[in-house]
Amino acid sequence: MTRSDDLMDPGIWPAKGRPARNAKIEAQVADLLERMSLEEKVGQVIQADLASVTPQEARDYHLGSILNGGNSAPAGNNRAAPADFLDLVDSFYRASVDATGGRIAIPILWGTDAVHGHNNIVGATIFPHNIGLGAARDPDLIRRIGEVTALEVRTTGMDWTFAPTLAVARDDRWGRTYESYGEHPDVIASYAAAMVVGLQGRPDTDDFLSDRRVLATAKHFVGDGGTENGADQGDCRASNEDMRDIHAAGYPPALEAGVQTVMASFNTWHGRKMHGCREMLNDVLVDRLGFDGFVVGDWNGHGQVEGCTATSAAAAFNAGLDMFMAPDSWKGLYETTLDDVRAGRISAARLDEAVARILRVKMRLGLFEAKPPRERALAGEFSLLGSDAHRVVARDAVRKSLVLLKNDGVLPIRPNSRILVCGDGADNIGMQCGGWTLSWQGTDNVNSDFPNGQSIFAAVTDAVANCGGSVELSPRGTWSQKPDTAIVVFGEYPYAEFQGDRDTVDFSSDGPLQLMKSLQADAIPVVAVFLSGRPLWVNPELNASNAFVAAFLPGSEGAGIADLLIGDMAGNARHDFSGKLSFSWPRHPRQSPLNVGDADYDPLFAYGYGLSITDSHVPVDHDESCALPVRGSYRLADLFIAGQARGGWQLLLAEGDGDELAINAPKVASASGHIRVEARDHKAQEDTRLATWYGPASLLISGPPTDFSREVNAQMSLILTCRVISPPAGPVMLTMRDGDGMEVQVDIAAQISSADDDWQTVAVPLSYFVSMHLNQKAVTQPFGLYAEDPWSVQIEGIRVGSWEGSENHD
Ligand code: BGC
Ligand code: BGC
Repeated sequence: MTRSDDLMDPGIWPAKGRPARNAKIEAQVADLLERMSLEEKVGQVIQADLASVTPQEARDYHLGSILNGGNSAPAGNNRAAPADFLDLVDSFYRASVDATGGRIAIPILWGTDAVHGHNNIVGATIFPHNIGLGAARDPDLIRRIGEVTALEVRTTGMDWTFAPTLAVARDDRWGRTYESYGEHPDVIASYAAAMVVGLQGRPDTDDFLSDRRVLATAKHFVGDGGTENGADQGDCRASNEDMRDIHAAGYPPALEAGVQTVMASFNTWHGRKMHGCREMLNDVLVDRLGFDGFVVGDWNGHGQVEGCTATSAAAAFNAGLDMFMAPDSWKGLYETTLDDVRAGRISAARLDEAVARILRVKMRLGLFEAKPPRERALAGEFSLLGSDAHRVVARDAVRKSLVLLKNDGVLPIRPNSRILVCGDGADNIGMQCGGWTLSWQGTDNVNSDFPNGQSIFAAVTDAVANCGGSVELSPRGTWSQKPDTAIVVFGEYPYAEFQGDRDTVDFSSDGPLQLMKSLQADAIPVVAVFLSGRPLWVNPELNASNAFVAAFLPGSEGAGIADLLIGDMAGNARHDFSGKLSFSWPRHPRQSPLNVGDADYDPLFAYGYGLSITDSHVPVDHDESCALPVRGSYRLADLFIAGQARGGWQLLLAEGDGDELAINAPKVASASGHIRVEARDHKAQEDTRLATWYGPASLLISGPPTDFSREVNAQMSLILTCRVISPPAGPVMLTMRDGDGMEVQVDIAAQISSADDDWQTVAVPLSYFVSMHLNQKAVTQPFGLYAEDPWSVQIEGIRVGSWEGSENHD
């Protein structure tokens, strides 16, 4: 293999030259640097997360920035009113500019992940995720989306969005595929500038970074979409040329459009963490490409660099990271960084350079002259959130993002016919929106969380109103009067980041297929609408439908879908399909990576495919023989679902300190009968286990030592979903154990003592186990339940996941 210094030679990257600087701003920056104390400088390069910092602390530690991460919101409420966000932003700002005691007033910057609209805010316009926008091949649409997003972000007083994602996703098993505009660099290159201009305004005009615009972030630099096996935060092994021509294709245009921040990526490149890669963060990005804003880190990403931790990261800083994203680690990091500068591990010059870059961006944004957030233009104008005008843009985006994969002539549907809308996505705006919607993972959203959104069912109903048609909603597909056509809306459930990583590109759910088959058996034509964050192998579903629409994650405007499905009275389309795949569609469930230009390129539907409604198209039967023996791909963190331990974990029982016995039969009891475990039906056959204690015993999940650092970093919990059949008389210990034999216990008896027949969820933050000295890098028993007194519980799920304090049980 090439030595890493050859591999990363910046010389092959285009030399672009830095844009001209504003002399007045430069003078102001120099003046501030003169006057700022060391503490003020160190604080400036640190960003904390809303959930772990108060305005007073932000002031006392001189923090440069605050973010609201995907799960952070006022008072921990992801559905907080927009006014509550604005108030918080305002109070942090006021604290930051409080100059009493000789402090220098430096206004704080607020960043948010407005990645498909202002998606953390109830009522905002939620646009299709990037994968759908890629299918539109319409840069001007992207610019308009950026413009609308900026306006909506401004209503809550925030200044900065962590978008656009310029990843070129090359392996669709990656959980962030939907954040990518496409698998080919051309799509990304053609959109990057458009989104930056939409968000920030056009450089060299008065509108640039005006009070109707926000700072944009080109992320994640670089190689995020190119990791081996599509592993999130994995290793990218691209050559320097491929890094330049494929993965970085969006950066030169984004920089030319004046993007003010770039976020370092979590991934490694040939084993080197990007957060510590000076060749890329400095030599390429700044020296060659002429980037003149600041580099922000990703969520504790600095802590992953060799020799660094979340609270000590000189190497990352020296490599060119200008602002640490230190959500919960900011305080420790502040102290250590101060020491690092005092001890010369970070030079004063490097610190000044980073601070200057941050101040420069704040000045370009006009932050020093701006009023407090609550008094700025657009602040509090919440009628802009999901306004009619904004929804028009989103609806247009939806229409352009849908890709028609099959149509035997059933489309368009006549508006005066009888229509059944079924499938679990039929009336489910949360599923339309996917991850990064109101919460990080986007799970648990219900239609009422989208006061300005419309489900597909509601939109179809609107489309046939006054035309004599009728619509029946039935997620399970039953009907009272036989429909002329059934629209089956189905697909992936929401996920974000590594929670969405998969082993295969199989669409692993049989329910929708059975539904389609039973409709067809009744001679009802099926229009399939597939909601997904990536192309997936759906040959059986394609065969079982008369028309098939890849809708990706369209967002809050169901009407954009109805516009294309429902025609006029004369049987003509009202709007035609124009979307073209920006990702190749797989022919086999294991066909990933699959990218246009591959030597043996053999997709089911090629990159660029997409039918028009008038195309005469004779459907063919797609091969189903390559189906996987078991449809299903489970994640490491799904410890137990659908009645089984998954992902290499084993379900065991043990009596007192006795030997462990694997549970691999429907009924298993321990030697002296202290515990019995039986398979039970809940929503499906044997999809739960009933565990009954008669004496000291435990139920365990165990496996080889597994690193849960990422889950800990993401503030996840151990989550048990169960129903108490007979309540415990004494303690019930929930346990976790590591490879060194350390076991941490927590008594959950009080939380689960009721036997009122309700399903309930018990969640214990992983940080608790770690605080009790569990080694998160080598967990061998992520779950155990130990009790001595009799009790009985039916278990549906055990997982490590993001916990929001509520879960829908049905
Ligand atoms: C993600 C970024 C995001 C950041 C802040 C990280 O985990 O990788 O894309 O901007 O969190 O929420
Ligand atoms: C945060 C996200 C962040 C993620 C990092 C979550 O807890 O809410 O914003 O991206 O952790 O993995």
